[in-house]
Amino acid sequence: ARLVVLVSGSGTNLQALLDAIAADPGGYGAEIVAVGADRDSIVGLERAERAGIPTFVCRVKDHGSREEWDAALAAATGAYAPDLVVSAGFMKIVGKEFLARFGGRVVNTHPALLPSFPGAHAVRDALAYGARVTGCTVHFVDDGVDTGPIIAQGVVEIRDEDDEAALHERIKEVERRLLVDVVGRLARNGYRIEGRKVQIGELG
Ligand code: GRF
Repeated sequence: ARLVVLVSGSGTNLQALLDAIAADPGGYGAEIVAVGADRDSIVGLERAERAGIPTFVCRVKDHGSREEWDAALAAATGAYAPDLVVSAGFMKIVGKEFLARFGGRVVNTHPALLPSFPGAHAVRDALAYGARVTGCTVHFVDDGVDTGPIIAQGVVEIRDEDDEAALHERIKEVERRLLVDVVGRLARNGYRIEGRKVQIGELG
């Protein structure tokens, strides 16, 4: 399967995918054909360049409107003919055109146990709420914010001494493994989305 991975920051989830593919190119069942970002000069893009993978940047401020940005992101992504788009720490909400083109094939990873703590500050929100456990969720993207069908989740304990950075780092350890496992299974076994349920493999 052809993957386009979208990033906005350090790209450690991207790195986990790169490492898994490098460790077993034939067996993993997917290749990253391009990495896209919504901003320049992020480590995530450097990771792609280091791996010799084409990159593209689509900045909102370079476009007249959010809709135009969304269309440009869809075009830039589509140029690589992805089978799956993986949003790995991509901090923008994709819009109608992107979903019209790639809906049902966009996977996102979120650092909380959805439906708890959606949005851009999930780790901080779980900590502030006084939750005793949190975690990460890999889900398909729908037209909401962090609302699409859940594929897999991983639980992470919150410790009294945690601050946002420490907790997020511990979540990311689980998240990277979960994302690598899910993307590989989707790529190798195929899947079906039925309402809020995701069926991987055993396709009749
Ligand atoms: C991940 O925890 C992701 O869920 C969240 O931001 C983090 C991105 O980390 N949206 P990285 O860029 O993959 O290192």
